[in-house]
Amino acid sequence: MKISVINGPNLDMLGTREPSLYGNLSISDINKQIEIKANELGVEIDLFQSNSEGEIVEKIHYLHGKFDGFIINAAAYTHTSIAIRDAALSVSLPFIEVHLSNVYKRETFRHKSYLADIALGVISGFGYLSYILALEALVKYIKAQARA
Ligand code: DQA
Repeated sequence: MKISVINGPNLDMLGTREPSLYGNLSISDINKQIEIKANELGVEIDLFQSNSEGEIVEKIHYLHGKFDGFIINAAAYTHTSIAIRDAALSVSLPFIEVHLSNVYKRETFRHKSYLADIALGVISGFGYLSYILALEALVKYIKAQARA
């Protein structure tokens, strides 16, 4: 099973960026934790980060036919990007939207997601554990689909 984890803009600044909201771990610290969990679950993991909306769109297209699903923290693009929504719809792969912070505790502009209603589900507010929980859920979901 192959799963991609896509991170959007400013997540390359984790560790230094607003630690009271996003914690002290860098993106590479979080990626290490994801890799450990992927090993435990016996799945292949691909890790991607971009600050560019177009590159995220292209990355999602690339997954088509090669991956079984993906996890995405589209960061600020979650709240603005119809292009990323359309890309997700175009590949028809199961995916989970994640956020480190609980976006529903924050400004109202963060309550709008262009991905939530087409995602399998949303995990928001658990710091790096949001990714780990999403990986467990997505792998279970894909295995159950394969058995059905
Ligand atoms: C975020 C929440 C977004 O609102 C914000 O723009 C981010 C990070 C999170 O992981 O909590 O960049 O996606």
